[in-house]
Amino acid sequence: MSIRKYLFRIINWISRHFFASRLNYAHIQAFIYNNSWHKFFNLVHVHWDMWRGKSITSSRPYICVFEVTNVCNLKCPFCLTGKGISGGRDVRHMTFEESKQIIDAIAPHTYFMQVYTWGEPLLNKDLVRIVEYAKARNVYVMLSTNATAMTPAYNKRLIDSGIDYVMVAIDGGSQETYKKYRVGGDYDKVLANVKDLLQQRRERKLEHPFVEWQFIVFRHNEHEARSTEAMAYEIGINKFTPLPAYVEDPEWAATDPEYRTELKNPERLKDCDRPWSHLNVRADGGVASCCYSFFKKDDLGELTMHSFDEVWNNAHFQQSRRLITQFKRGQEMEQSSLLCRDCLKTGVRPSFIETPTDTQAKQKAVAGAHDKAAPRSIPVQVITDGS
Ligand SMILES: C[S@@+](CC[C@H](N)C(=O)[O-])C[C@H]1O[C@@H](n2cnc3c(N)ncnc32)[C@H](O)[C@@H]1O
Ligand code: SF4
Repeated sequence: MSIRKYLFRIINWISRHFFASRLNYAHIQAFIYNNSWHKFFNLVHVHWDMWRGKSITSSRPYICVFEVTNVCNLKCPFCLTGKGISGGRDVRHMTFEESKQIIDAIAPHTYFMQVYTWGEPLLNKDLVRIVEYAKARNVYVMLSTNATAMTPAYNKRLIDSGIDYVMVAIDGGSQETYKKYRVGGDYDKVLANVKDLLQQRRERKLEHPFVEWQFIVFRHNEHEARSTEAMAYEIGINKFTPLPAYVEDPEWAATDPEYRTELKNPERLKDCDRPWSHLNVRADGGVASCCYSFFKKDDLGELTMHSFDEVWNNAHFQQSRRLITQFKRGQEMEQSSLLCRDCLKTGVRPSFIETPTDTQAKQKAVAGAHDKAAPRSIPVQVITDGS
């Protein structure tokens, strides 16, 4: 047990320091278990086109971030959804039919599908069917949940769906600390729900789903992180991750430097590959540049009106790829109202950011971006290829 604990601490450390927390255990599992020659050649193609700075690409995304709902039942104070902000989108669940179309479009080249962004995925009554469908198309599926909507019957269906990875977000080791951030949640209930999931998995002698406990570390719960880690491994959790929190009030920030991430380093942006490797679909069918882009007005495309192929190389996607290429090559970035430009220029992610000191800069960046009332107009350069 303790070997596993230390192994994951090492993996978390490597991922955080060398891959800006972007490579995780689930990605490695997806690569091992959900591969095919087609996917592998596509993966190479993605990075080859990115390296050459191609803004029009015939490669396809190998990761899909798919928001099955933007509805939530909790009110976490630093979460835009928890604050009741819709970002200009319809607040809704993706239907099974809509999801099926998207999965059909991406499954041949996609290893990994994350079925949440903002909102609580378990509230979508079609979730289990969506997961089953993606699994049947050889895609690795993971989600993050606040675990409030689990019941024994639901957990059985979730396990039966074949879901690979379930991350439960429980930020505390007691009711007192937990409810301070997870406003509206009940610690005893979510813990019982997770124990039930683990017990059912154990009784059925199954390896899946891999269950991660994500513990967002704030000042009010940092003293419980290590004791909760020990308890989590005792009940059968596979991986415990203390996650540095995004806070909007420095009073909430943990004091232990281990729980305050220093990812402010804009160097990591040089590795941004998302407009080549990721497809981010929001619950209203909007396509965002990445999971940090929250507001409808920043979307790059619209799957309710256009096919995946039309969106993937549209003018906005081309421009986001050009901006990243210009940034990486040290060239002057072209004028653009795309969020990518602000992100690359400031080194500050558009939504969640990691340190309290970043907050002001981020608020400025976000306010600036969203104060612009006019819809985005991109000075579109029509590029034939090889830009
Ligand atoms: C917006 S939530 C949506 C999924 C689900 N409702 C949940 O809470 O797990 C996506 C992820 O953001 C994380 N999150 C929420 N508030 C955070 C914060 N202040 N700092 C860092 N991560 C946070 C959640 O724990 C979750 O893993
Ligand atoms: S449970 Fe998740 S989506 Fe809901 S408010 Fe909290 S962090 Fe946001």
